[in-house]
Amino acid sequence: MAGTKDLHNAKKEKKDEFYTQLEDIELELKHYRNDFKGKVIFCNCDDPYESNFFKYFAMNFNTFGLKKLIATCYATSPVANTQLSLFDILDMPEETEEDNRKPHKIEITEVLDYNEDGAVDLADVEFLLRSKKNTLTLLNGDGDFRSEECIELLKQADIVITNPPFSLFREYVAQLIEYDKKFIIIGNKNAITYKEIFSLIQEEKMWLGYRNINADMWFIVPKDYECEKVVNGLRVKHIMGCWFTNLDTTKRHEDLLLFKPYTPEEYPKYDNYDAINVDKVSDIPCDYDGVIGVPITFLDKYNPNQFEILGLSQKVGMGLESNKFYDDYKEVRQDGSFTGSSGKKTNGNPVMKGKPEKGNYYTNGTDFVYSLYGRIFIRKKR
Ligand SMILES: C[S@@+](CC[C@H](N)C(=O)[O-])C[C@H]1O[C@@H](n2cnc3c(N)ncnc32)[C@H](O)[C@@H]1O
Repeated sequence: MAGTKDLHNAKKEKKDEFYTQLEDIELELKHYRNDFKGKVIFCNCDDPYESNFFKYFAMNFNTFGLKKLIATCYATSPVANTQLSLFDILDMPEETEEDNRKPHKIEITEVLDYNEDGAVDLADVEFLLRSKKNTLTLLNGDGDFRSEECIELLKQADIVITNPPFSLFREYVAQLIEYDKKFIIIGNKNAITYKEIFSLIQEEKMWLGYRNINADMWFIVPKDYECEKVVNGLRVKHIMGCWFTNLDTTKRHEDLLLFKPYTPEEYPKYDNYDAINVDKVSDIPCDYDGVIGVPITFLDKYNPNQFEILGLSQKVGMGLESNKFYDDYKEVRQDGSFTGSSGKKTNGNPVMKGKPEKGNYYTNGTDFVYSLYGRIFIRKKR
Protein backbone atom coordinates (compact mmCIF):
# COMPACT_ATOMS: atom_id res chain seq x y z
CA MET A 1 0.00 0.00 0.00
CA ALA A 2 1.32 3.45 -0.81
CA GLY A 3 2.46 5.40 2.25
CA THR A 4 1.64 9.06 2.89
CA LYS A 5 5.10 10.02 1.64
CA ASP A 6 4.60 8.15 -1.66
CA LEU A 7 1.24 9.79 -2.20
CA HIS A 8 2.73 13.16 -1.41
CA ASN A 9 5.56 12.57 -3.90
CA ALA A 10 3.15 11.40 -6.59
CA LYS A 11 1.11 14.56 -6.10
CA LYS A 12 4.26 16.66 -6.20
CA GLU A 13 5.41 15.09 -9.46
CA LYS A 14 2.05 15.57 -11.20
CA LYS A 15 1.55 19.28 -10.88
CA ASP A 16 -1.37 19.70 -13.23
CA GLU A 17 -3.54 22.24 -11.47
CA PHE A 18 -2.79 25.44 -13.38
CA TYR A 19 -5.92 27.41 -14.15
CA THR A 20 -6.09 29.65 -17.18
CA GLN A 21 -7.02 33.28 -16.76
CA LEU A 22 -10.00 34.60 -18.70
CA GLU A 23 -7.91 37.39 -20.21
CA ASP A 24 -5.47 34.91 -21.78
CA ILE A 25 -8.34 32.88 -23.19
CA GLU A 26 -9.98 35.98 -24.68
CA LEU A 27 -6.73 37.23 -26.21
CA GLU A 28 -6.14 33.97 -28.07
CA LEU A 29 -9.65 32.83 -28.94
CA LYS A 30 -10.82 36.14 -30.39
CA HIS A 31 -8.82 35.20 -33.50
CA TYR A 32 -10.90 32.08 -34.17
CA ARG A 33 -14.39 33.52 -33.72
CA ASN A 34 -15.41 32.64 -37.27
CA ASP A 35 -14.47 29.01 -36.67
CA PHE A 36 -16.96 28.60 -33.82
CA LYS A 37 -20.25 29.21 -35.64
CA GLY A 38 -22.57 26.18 -35.57
CA LYS A 39 -19.94 24.07 -33.82
CA VAL A 40 -19.90 21.72 -30.84
CA ILE A 41 -17.18 22.92 -28.48
CA PHE A 42 -15.80 20.46 -25.94
CA CYS A 43 -13.72 21.49 -22.92
CA ASN A 44 -12.68 18.09 -21.58
CA CYS A 45 -10.40 19.04 -18.68
CA ASP A 46 -12.69 21.68 -17.28
CA ASP A 47 -14.79 21.79 -14.21
CA PRO A 48 -17.53 24.14 -15.40
CA TYR A 49 -17.73 25.65 -11.95
CA GLU A 50 -14.19 26.91 -12.08
CA SER A 51 -12.97 26.84 -15.68
CA ASN A 52 -12.67 30.12 -17.50
CA PHE A 53 -12.87 28.20 -20.77
CA PHE A 54 -16.38 27.13 -19.87
CA LYS A 55 -17.21 30.64 -18.68
CA TYR A 56 -15.89 32.19 -21.91
CA PHE A 57 -17.98 29.94 -24.16
CA ALA A 58 -21.08 30.06 -21.95
CA MET A 59 -20.96 33.89 -21.95
CA ASN A 60 -20.48 34.00 -25.71
CA PHE A 61 -22.74 31.08 -26.61
CA ASN A 62 -25.12 33.18 -28.71
CA THR A 63 -22.58 35.68 -30.01
CA PHE A 64 -20.53 32.85 -31.46
CA GLY A 65 -23.63 30.97 -32.63
CA LEU A 66 -22.50 27.73 -30.96
CA LYS A 67 -24.45 24.56 -31.55
CA LYS A 68 -23.45 23.01 -28.24
CA LEU A 69 -21.02 23.48 -25.37
CA ILE A 70 -19.83 20.46 -23.40
CA ALA A 71 -17.52 20.52 -20.40
CA THR A 72 -16.34 17.57 -18.35
CA CYS A 73 -14.67 17.68 -14.99
CA TYR A 74 -11.99 15.32 -13.71
CA ALA A 75 -12.59 13.96 -10.20
CA THR A 76 -12.50 16.68 -7.54
CA SER A 77 -10.34 19.64 -8.29
CA PRO A 78 -8.54 21.35 -5.41
CA VAL A 79 -9.78 24.80 -6.37
CA ALA A 80 -13.43 23.79 -6.74
CA ASN A 81 -15.64 26.15 -4.80
CA THR A 82 -12.66 28.03 -3.42
CA GLN A 83 -10.81 30.53 -5.55
CA LEU A 84 -12.45 30.36 -8.90
CA SER A 85 -16.00 29.27 -8.48
CA LEU A 86 -17.94 31.10 -11.13
CA PHE A 87 -21.24 30.80 -9.36
CA ASP A 88 -20.36 31.42 -5.74
CA ILE A 89 -22.71 34.34 -5.46
CA LEU A 90 -25.61 31.96 -5.55
CA ASP A 91 -26.62 29.34 -3.01
CA MET A 92 -26.56 26.12 -4.92
CA PRO A 93 -29.35 23.73 -3.97
CA GLU A 94 -27.75 21.16 -1.67
CA GLU A 95 -28.27 18.40 -4.16
CA THR A 96 -26.47 20.34 -6.92
CA GLU A 97 -23.69 21.46 -4.62
CA GLU A 98 -22.90 17.91 -3.67
CA ASP A 99 -23.06 16.84 -7.31
CA ASN A 100 -20.73 19.54 -8.54
CA ARG A 101 -17.99 18.06 -6.37
CA LYS A 102 -18.27 14.75 -8.23
CA PRO A 103 -17.04 14.22 -11.79
CA HIS A 104 -19.79 15.54 -14.01
CA LYS A 105 -20.56 16.91 -17.41
CA ILE A 106 -22.48 19.93 -18.51
CA GLU A 107 -24.06 20.15 -21.93
CA ILE A 108 -25.64 23.37 -23.13
CA THR A 109 -27.54 23.73 -26.37
CA GLU A 110 -29.12 27.14 -25.79
CA VAL A 111 -28.82 30.10 -23.46
CA LEU A 112 -31.92 32.30 -23.23
CA ASP A 113 -32.84 35.31 -21.12
CA TYR A 114 -34.21 33.09 -18.35
CA ASN A 115 -34.21 35.76 -15.68
CA GLU A 116 -35.86 38.22 -18.08
CA ASP A 117 -33.47 41.06 -17.30
CA GLY A 118 -33.18 41.97 -20.98
CA ALA A 119 -29.68 40.53 -21.39
CA VAL A 120 -28.34 37.03 -22.00
CA ASP A 121 -25.33 36.64 -19.76
CA LEU A 122 -23.63 34.50 -17.14
CA ALA A 123 -26.57 34.94 -14.75
CA ASP A 124 -28.69 33.09 -17.30
CA VAL A 125 -26.14 30.29 -17.47
CA GLU A 126 -26.33 30.02 -13.67
CA PHE A 127 -30.08 29.85 -13.91
CA LEU A 128 -29.84 27.16 -16.57
CA LEU A 129 -27.52 25.01 -14.47
CA ARG A 130 -29.68 25.40 -11.40
CA SER A 131 -33.04 24.80 -12.95
CA LYS A 132 -32.63 22.43 -15.86
CA LYS A 133 -31.57 19.17 -14.39
CA ASN A 134 -30.56 17.55 -17.65
CA THR A 135 -27.91 20.23 -18.23
CA LEU A 136 -25.69 18.85 -15.49
CA THR A 137 -25.29 15.09 -15.19
CA LEU A 138 -22.90 13.00 -13.16
CA LEU A 139 -20.36 10.93 -15.03
CA ASN A 140 -20.10 7.22 -14.36
CA GLY A 141 -16.33 7.32 -14.10
CA ASP A 142 -13.76 9.86 -12.94
CA GLY A 143 -13.96 12.16 -15.98
CA ASP A 144 -10.59 11.09 -17.38
CA PHE A 145 -10.39 12.41 -20.94
CA ARG A 146 -9.39 8.86 -21.98
CA SER A 147 -12.45 7.21 -20.46
CA GLU A 148 -15.06 5.65 -22.73
CA GLU A 149 -17.79 8.12 -21.81
CA CYS A 150 -15.51 11.11 -22.41
CA ILE A 151 -14.41 9.64 -25.73
CA GLU A 152 -18.09 9.34 -26.72
CA LEU A 153 -18.43 13.07 -26.04
CA LEU A 154 -15.21 13.73 -27.95
CA LYS A 155 -16.69 12.02 -30.98
CA GLN A 156 -19.58 14.52 -30.93
CA ALA A 157 -17.26 17.52 -30.71
CA ASP A 158 -16.08 19.69 -33.59
CA ILE A 159 -13.43 21.63 -31.68
CA VAL A 160 -11.72 20.75 -28.41
CA ILE A 161 -10.53 23.78 -26.50
CA THR A 162 -8.81 23.67 -23.14
CA ASN A 163 -5.64 23.71 -21.10
CA PRO A 164 -5.08 19.96 -20.51
CA PRO A 165 -2.82 18.40 -17.85
CA PHE A 166 0.77 19.09 -18.89
CA SER A 167 1.85 15.70 -17.51
CA LEU A 168 -0.39 13.91 -20.03
CA PHE A 169 0.19 16.23 -22.97
CA ARG A 170 1.56 13.60 -25.38
CA GLU A 171 -1.36 11.25 -24.74
CA TYR A 172 -3.82 14.10 -24.85
CA VAL A 173 -2.66 15.28 -28.29
CA ALA A 174 -2.40 11.70 -29.60
CA GLN A 175 -6.07 11.19 -28.74
CA LEU A 176 -7.12 14.37 -30.55
CA ILE A 177 -5.21 13.25 -33.62
CA GLU A 178 -6.64 9.72 -33.43
CA TYR A 179 -10.19 11.10 -33.42
CA ASP A 180 -9.32 13.66 -36.08
CA LYS A 181 -10.45 16.63 -33.99
CA LYS A 182 -9.80 20.32 -34.44
CA PHE A 183 -8.27 21.82 -31.32
CA ILE A 184 -6.94 24.92 -29.60
CA ILE A 185 -5.03 23.93 -26.47
CA ILE A 186 -2.39 25.22 -24.11
CA GLY A 187 0.82 23.28 -23.52
CA ASN A 188 4.21 23.80 -22.04
CA LYS A 189 6.71 25.36 -24.45
CA ASN A 190 9.00 22.37 -23.78
CA ALA A 191 6.39 20.12 -25.37
CA ILE A 192 7.64 21.36 -28.75
CA THR A 193 10.76 19.24 -28.26
CA TYR A 194 8.85 16.05 -27.43
CA LYS A 195 9.46 13.65 -30.28
CA GLU A 196 5.75 13.00 -30.86
CA ILE A 197 4.78 16.68 -30.76
CA PHE A 198 7.68 17.86 -32.90
CA SER A 199 6.81 15.26 -35.54
CA LEU A 200 3.24 16.58 -35.70
CA ILE A 201 4.56 20.13 -36.13
CA GLN A 202 6.94 18.97 -38.83
CA GLU A 203 4.12 17.14 -40.63
CA GLU A 204 1.98 20.31 -40.40
CA LYS A 205 -0.63 18.58 -38.28
CA MET A 206 -0.37 21.23 -35.58
CA TRP A 207 1.27 24.62 -35.08
CA LEU A 208 1.49 27.47 -32.61
CA GLY A 209 -1.39 29.84 -31.93
CA TYR A 210 -1.30 33.63 -32.01
CA ARG A 211 0.19 34.41 -28.62
CA ASN A 212 3.86 35.40 -28.65
CA ILE A 213 5.78 32.38 -27.43
CA ASN A 214 8.13 34.62 -25.42
CA ALA A 215 5.34 36.46 -23.58
CA ASP A 216 4.82 35.51 -19.94
CA MET A 217 1.77 33.40 -19.16
CA TRP A 218 0.44 33.43 -15.60
CA PHE A 219 -1.85 30.70 -14.32
CA ILE A 220 -3.94 30.54 -11.16
CA VAL A 221 -2.69 27.87 -8.76
CA PRO A 222 -4.34 26.17 -5.76
CA LYS A 223 -3.35 26.96 -2.20
CA ASP A 224 -0.94 24.05 -1.82
CA TYR A 225 1.09 25.13 -4.88
CA GLU A 226 3.94 27.62 -4.80
CA CYS A 227 2.86 30.96 -6.21
CA GLU A 228 4.97 33.87 -7.42
CA LYS A 229 2.49 36.66 -6.77
CA VAL A 230 -1.10 37.38 -5.82
CA VAL A 231 -3.14 39.39 -8.32
CA ASN A 232 -6.69 40.46 -7.45
CA GLY A 233 -6.72 37.86 -4.69
CA LEU A 234 -5.66 35.07 -7.04
CA ARG A 235 -2.42 33.17 -6.47
CA VAL A 236 -0.61 33.01 -9.80
CA LYS A 237 2.48 31.31 -11.14
CA HIS A 238 4.41 31.88 -14.33
CA ILE A 239 4.64 28.92 -16.72
CA MET A 240 6.28 28.72 -20.12
CA GLY A 241 2.96 28.04 -21.76
CA CYS A 242 1.96 28.45 -25.37
CA TRP A 243 -1.05 27.71 -27.57
CA PHE A 244 -1.14 24.83 -30.01
CA THR A 245 -3.79 24.44 -32.67
CA ASN A 246 -4.65 22.77 -35.96
CA LEU A 247 -7.14 25.47 -36.99
CA ASP A 248 -5.75 27.70 -39.66
CA THR A 249 -4.28 31.00 -38.50
CA THR A 250 -3.47 34.09 -40.56
CA LYS A 251 -0.13 34.23 -38.77
CA ARG A 252 1.20 31.07 -40.39
CA HIS A 253 0.74 32.57 -43.84
CA GLU A 254 2.80 35.67 -43.10
CA ASP A 255 6.37 35.76 -44.41
CA LEU A 256 9.15 36.48 -41.98
CA LEU A 257 11.03 39.48 -43.39
CA LEU A 258 14.69 38.61 -43.87
CA PHE A 259 17.27 41.29 -44.49
CA LYS A 260 20.68 40.10 -43.28
CA PRO A 261 23.14 38.81 -45.90
CA TYR A 262 25.01 35.57 -45.20
CA THR A 263 28.73 35.66 -44.36
CA PRO A 264 30.67 32.59 -43.17
CA GLU A 265 32.18 34.69 -40.34
CA GLU A 266 28.86 35.78 -38.90
CA TYR A 267 27.14 32.42 -39.41
CA PRO A 268 29.62 29.66 -38.49
CA LYS A 269 28.65 26.00 -38.89
CA TYR A 270 28.13 23.71 -35.90
CA ASP A 271 30.91 21.31 -35.00
CA ASN A 272 28.50 18.38 -35.14
CA TYR A 273 25.70 19.30 -37.58
CA ASP A 274 25.97 20.27 -41.21
CA ALA A 275 24.18 23.58 -40.69
CA ILE A 276 24.95 27.21 -39.90
CA ASN A 277 24.00 28.67 -36.53
CA VAL A 278 21.58 31.57 -36.07
CA ASP A 279 21.07 32.88 -32.52
CA LYS A 280 18.13 35.22 -33.23
CA VAL A 281 15.21 34.39 -35.50
CA SER A 282 15.30 37.93 -36.95
CA ASP A 283 18.92 37.28 -38.06
CA ILE A 284 18.10 34.40 -40.43
CA PRO A 285 20.09 35.30 -43.55
CA CYS A 286 18.05 36.18 -46.63
CA ASP A 287 20.43 34.59 -49.15
CA TYR A 288 21.48 31.25 -47.61
CA ASP A 289 19.98 28.16 -49.21
CA GLY A 290 21.55 25.48 -46.99
CA VAL A 291 20.45 24.15 -43.61
CA ILE A 292 20.07 26.72 -40.81
CA GLY A 293 19.83 26.02 -37.05
CA VAL A 294 17.46 28.43 -35.31
CA PRO A 295 16.14 28.79 -31.74
CA ILE A 296 12.93 26.94 -30.98
CA THR A 297 11.05 30.26 -30.81
CA PHE A 298 11.29 30.24 -34.61
CA LEU A 299 8.03 28.29 -34.61
CA ASP A 300 6.25 31.46 -33.61
CA LYS A 301 7.14 32.87 -37.03
CA TYR A 302 6.95 29.67 -39.03
CA ASN A 303 5.24 29.92 -42.39
CA PRO A 304 5.34 26.48 -44.07
CA ASN A 305 5.36 28.10 -47.51
CA GLN A 306 8.51 30.03 -46.67
CA PHE A 307 10.52 27.41 -44.75
CA GLU A 308 10.84 23.66 -44.51
CA ILE A 309 11.50 22.10 -41.10
CA LEU A 310 14.17 19.42 -41.35
CA GLY A 311 14.75 18.36 -37.76
CA LEU A 312 15.56 19.13 -34.17
CA SER A 313 18.84 18.89 -32.26
CA GLN A 314 18.31 15.86 -30.05
CA LYS A 315 20.32 12.90 -28.83
CA VAL A 316 17.95 10.54 -30.60
CA GLY A 317 18.40 12.46 -33.84
CA MET A 318 15.23 13.93 -35.20
CA GLY A 319 15.47 14.71 -38.86
CA LEU A 320 19.05 15.93 -39.08
CA GLU A 321 21.63 13.58 -37.54
CA SER A 322 24.55 14.77 -35.45
CA ASN A 323 27.79 13.77 -37.21
CA LYS A 324 30.18 14.03 -34.24
CA PHE A 325 30.09 12.73 -30.66
CA TYR A 326 32.03 13.88 -27.61
CA ASP A 327 32.47 10.70 -25.55
CA ASP A 328 36.21 11.37 -25.15
CA TYR A 329 35.70 15.00 -24.04
CA LYS A 330 35.32 16.28 -20.47
CA GLU A 331 33.21 19.13 -19.20
CA VAL A 332 35.22 22.10 -17.88
CA ARG A 333 34.25 25.22 -15.93
CA GLN A 334 35.32 28.73 -16.93
CA ASP A 335 38.14 28.54 -14.36
CA GLY A 336 39.50 25.41 -16.08
CA SER A 337 38.44 22.89 -13.40
CA PHE A 338 36.66 19.66 -14.46
CA THR A 339 33.03 19.29 -13.49
CA GLY A 340 33.31 15.51 -13.39
CA SER A 341 30.92 15.09 -16.37
CA SER A 342 31.88 13.42 -19.62
CA GLY A 343 31.37 15.06 -23.00
CA LYS A 344 28.70 12.40 -23.66
CA LYS A 345 26.42 14.85 -21.92
CA THR A 346 26.47 17.16 -24.91
CA ASN A 347 25.99 14.56 -27.65
CA GLY A 348 23.15 15.67 -29.90
CA ASN A 349 23.18 19.28 -28.70
CA PRO A 350 24.13 21.99 -31.19
CA VAL A 351 27.87 22.34 -30.52
CA MET A 352 30.18 25.20 -31.55
CA LYS A 353 33.97 25.15 -31.81
CA GLY A 354 35.99 27.21 -29.29
CA LYS A 355 35.55 28.42 -25.71
CA PRO A 356 32.41 30.36 -24.78
CA GLU A 357 32.52 33.74 -23.00
CA LYS A 358 30.35 32.34 -20.23
CA GLY A 359 29.43 28.91 -18.95
CA ASN A 360 30.99 25.48 -19.11
CA TYR A 361 32.64 23.96 -22.15
CA TYR A 362 34.18 20.64 -23.23
CA THR A 363 37.70 19.60 -24.15
CA ASN A 364 39.58 16.48 -25.22
CA GLY A 365 42.93 18.13 -24.39
CA THR A 366 43.42 19.76 -27.77
CA ASP A 367 40.00 20.92 -29.02
CA PHE A 368 37.48 23.08 -27.18
CA VAL A 369 33.75 23.11 -27.85
CA TYR A 370 30.60 24.39 -26.16
CA SER A 371 26.93 23.69 -26.58
CA LEU A 372 23.97 25.95 -27.31
CA TYR A 373 20.30 25.64 -26.46
CA GLY A 374 18.23 23.35 -28.70
CA ARG A 375 17.90 24.29 -32.32
CA ILE A 376 15.37 23.56 -35.04
CA PHE A 377 16.91 22.92 -38.43
CA ILE A 378 15.22 24.66 -41.32
CA ARG A 379 15.76 25.51 -44.98
CA LYS A 380 14.32 28.33 -46.98
CA LYS A 381 11.80 27.32 -49.63
CA ARG A 382 11.92 30.62 -51.48
C1 LIG B 1 -3.64 22.62 -16.45
S1 LIG B 1 -5.15 22.31 -15.58
C2 LIG B 1 -6.24 23.37 -16.45
C3 LIG B 1 -7.63 23.40 -15.95
C4 LIG B 1 -8.59 24.16 -16.87
N1 LIG B 1 -8.68 23.49 -18.15
C5 LIG B 1 -8.11 25.57 -17.08
O1 LIG B 1 -7.56 25.86 -18.13
O2 LIG B 1 -8.28 26.40 -16.17
C6 LIG B 1 -5.51 20.70 -16.16
C7 LIG B 1 -6.72 20.08 -15.54
O3 LIG B 1 -6.88 18.75 -16.03
C8 LIG B 1 -7.29 17.92 -14.97
N2 LIG B 1 -6.86 16.56 -15.28
C9 LIG B 1 -5.78 15.89 -14.81
N3 LIG B 1 -5.75 14.64 -15.33
C10 LIG B 1 -6.84 14.53 -16.13
C11 LIG B 1 -7.37 13.47 -16.91
N4 LIG B 1 -6.75 12.32 -16.99
N5 LIG B 1 -8.52 13.72 -17.59
C12 LIG B 1 -9.14 14.91 -17.54
N6 LIG B 1 -8.68 15.94 -16.81
C13 LIG B 1 -7.56 15.75 -16.10
C14 LIG B 1 -6.58 18.47 -13.75
O4 LIG B 1 -7.24 18.11 -12.57
C15 LIG B 1 -6.63 19.97 -14.03
O5 LIG B 1 -7.75 20.56 -13.46
